[in-house]
Amino acid sequence: MNVGNNSLLTGKTAFITGGAQGIGLAVAEAFLRQGAGVIVADIDGRSLDAARAQLDSVTPGKTEVVALDVADFDATERVADTLFANGGVDIVVPNAGILALKLGIETDIATWRRILDVNLTGAFITATSFARRMVAAGRPGRIIFTSSIFGLRGGRENSAYSASKFGMIGLMQCLAAELAGKGILVNCVCPGQIESHMLHALFDERARLQGVSASALREAFEARIPVGKLGTAEEVAASYVYLASDLGRYVAGQSLVTDGGWQVG
Ligand SMILES: NC(=O)c1ccc[n+]([C@@H]2O[C@H](COP(=O)([O-])OP(=O)(O)OC[C@H]3O[C@@H](n4cnc5c(N)ncnc54)[C@H](O)[C@@H]3O)[C@@H](O)[C@H]2O)c1
Repeated sequence: MNVGNNSLLTGKTAFITGGAQGIGLAVAEAFLRQGAGVIVADIDGRSLDAARAQLDSVTPGKTEVVALDVADFDATERVADTLFANGGVDIVVPNAGILALKLGIETDIATWRRILDVNLTGAFITATSFARRMVAAGRPGRIIFTSSIFGLRGGRENSAYSASKFGMIGLMQCLAAELAGKGILVNCVCPGQIESHMLHALFDERARLQGVSASALREAFEARIPVGKLGTAEEVAASYVYLASDLGRYVAGQSLVTDGGWQVG
C-alpha cells in the first residue's frame, strides 16, 4: 500500500540519493504521487534505468536520474550546480547507505572508512552542497536524512554502521538549528527493520553465520516487532511525505522512528 495520490508536494522538486531501489525508490514514488518532480541519484548506474522506468509508469516525465557516488564531493557539487541552474531543488533526501555485518574488533579499517564515507560524509556532502545553494537562492525547503534505529541505540555487529547513523543524527540536529531560520527544516527518519535488498542480504549473512535458515531468522525478527511484521519501504516513505509536506511545517531537528514498535518491543 502506498500513500496514495494527492497534491501535498505539487510544484516541489526533490533530490533523493540511493534512490535506485529500496527505501529511496519508495520515497521517490511517494513524492511523485504527491505531485513532486524527482531527481534520483545512485552509485548503481545500471539500476537507475529500471528505477526511472518504474517511476515513469507512476507519473510520466517527472523523473531524472543521475549516477553519483555520494562520497564524491566534487561530483556532488557539479550535480547541485546543474540542478540549481535548471530550476533548483526544494527537498533533499540524503538516503544512500551501506552496511557490513561485523563485530567491532573484526571491523577492518577499510570497511570502517567506506561505511563512514558513504553513510555520514556522503550525507554531509549531499545536505550541505544543496543547502548552500538553497540559502544563496533564498529558497525554503526540507532536508530529510535516512538514519536508523541503530542511530539511536547500538547493538551487536553494527559498529561502523551504528556510528555513522548516530553521527547523522548529530549532523541533522546542528543543521536543523542553523537552517530553520532560513526556512529550511531538517529532520531524520529512523527506519526499523524494512524489507529491502539491504535487509534481505543481512538476513542471509546472519543466517549463514548462525547456521540457521533465513526464514527462521526472519520469523524471529518479526516476533520481536510489536506490530508483528517487517515494514515495507512504502510504509516508511509515508514518514518522508509528512516531513516534506506542509503537514510537517512546525517540525525541525527530530528523528521520526518508523519501526512498528521495535524500539519499545
Ligand atoms: N532496510 C532497512 O531495514 C533499513 C533500516 C534503517 C535504515 N536503513 C537505511 O535506509 C537507507 C536505504 O537503505 P535500503 O534498505 O533501501 O537499502 P538498499 O541497499 O536497497 O538501497 C541502498 C541504495 O543506496 C545506493 N548506494 C550505496 N552506496 C552509494 C553511494 N556511495 N552513492 C550513491 N548511492 C549509493 C545503493 O546502490 C542502493 O540503491 C540506507 O541509508 C539504510 O542505512 C535501512
